[in-house]
Amino acid sequence: MSTGDERNIDYEAGTASVVDMHDSVRREKALQPSGSESLGLFPLLLCGLVLVAGGGFLFKNANGFSDSTYIYANYVPDPRPVSDDGEDVEEDIAWIDKWMNEGKKVYGNCAACHQPTGTGAPGMFPPLVGSEWVDGGTARLGAILLHGINGPFSVAGQSYNQLMPAWGTLSDKKVAQVITYIRREFGTLPEGGDGVVTAEMIAAAREKFQGQSGPYTESQLLAIPADEQLSGAKVDLQTGDPL
Ligand code: HEC
Repeated sequence: MSTGDERNIDYEAGTASVVDMHDSVRREKALQPSGSESLGLFPLLLCGLVLVAGGGFLFKNANGFSDSTYIYANYVPDPRPVSDDGEDVEEDIAWIDKWMNEGKKVYGNCAACHQPTGTGAPGMFPPLVGSEWVDGGTARLGAILLHGINGPFSVAGQSYNQLMPAWGTLSDKKVAQVITYIRREFGTLPEGGDGVVTAEMIAAAREKFQGQSGPYTESQLLAIPADEQLSGAKVDLQTGDPL
């Protein structure tokens, strides 16, 4: 039978048991090769103390790690760079270019269907290039963007029967930017027209078409005159200021 006494069996009468003998060996740590002995407690504590004291010193004298430490009291930044003719460089980027860049970003919402090139997908999504809707007045475009379209719907002689989602949840500015983008990028502008739609015009469109619930049908959109424009001031393409 196995009992707790087993480990104390004397193998050689009168001598310590094998297990007891190994106890002492297990208790002692193996000797490390010279040079890799572990650090004593004292140097470790000393390091800890230096870190804590050093960190505290830095915190106290470096203004709580604030970046203002690195700005001198009388620091005056360099003037903004100016172009050759002395104009502010920022102003050199025309308002219309910024407006178009923003419009291109918003168009990221549309590209999956109408394609990055605006050419659409045959039978599925209509093109914006060569579309009488894009080339026409801004009133129809505002109505389409704010409320969407429920097919069947005909564009450039082809019929489509899907759903054009509504984008009325976007801000006036974003809707204005994306319409400006598709007109200038994919459309054919009327003579003398700049294709620009402003946030003010979209605000007007929201009010004008507020009675619409759900997406438009083709016949409802056709009832809006093809050349009707949203009301709002034209703007200076360089500055974006109303003319
Ligand atoms: C889910 C796919 C889809 C997305 C996304 C989409 N459209 Fe459309 N769009 C359509 C479909 C489909 C039609 C055609 C009407 C129909 O079948 O309901 C259409 C019609 C149009 C039309 C009128 C027809 C034409 O081709 O000129 C315009 C303008 C238009 N979309 C602009 C946009 C803009 C701008 C965006 C992004 C803000 C956008 N669409 C996002 C699917 C989409």
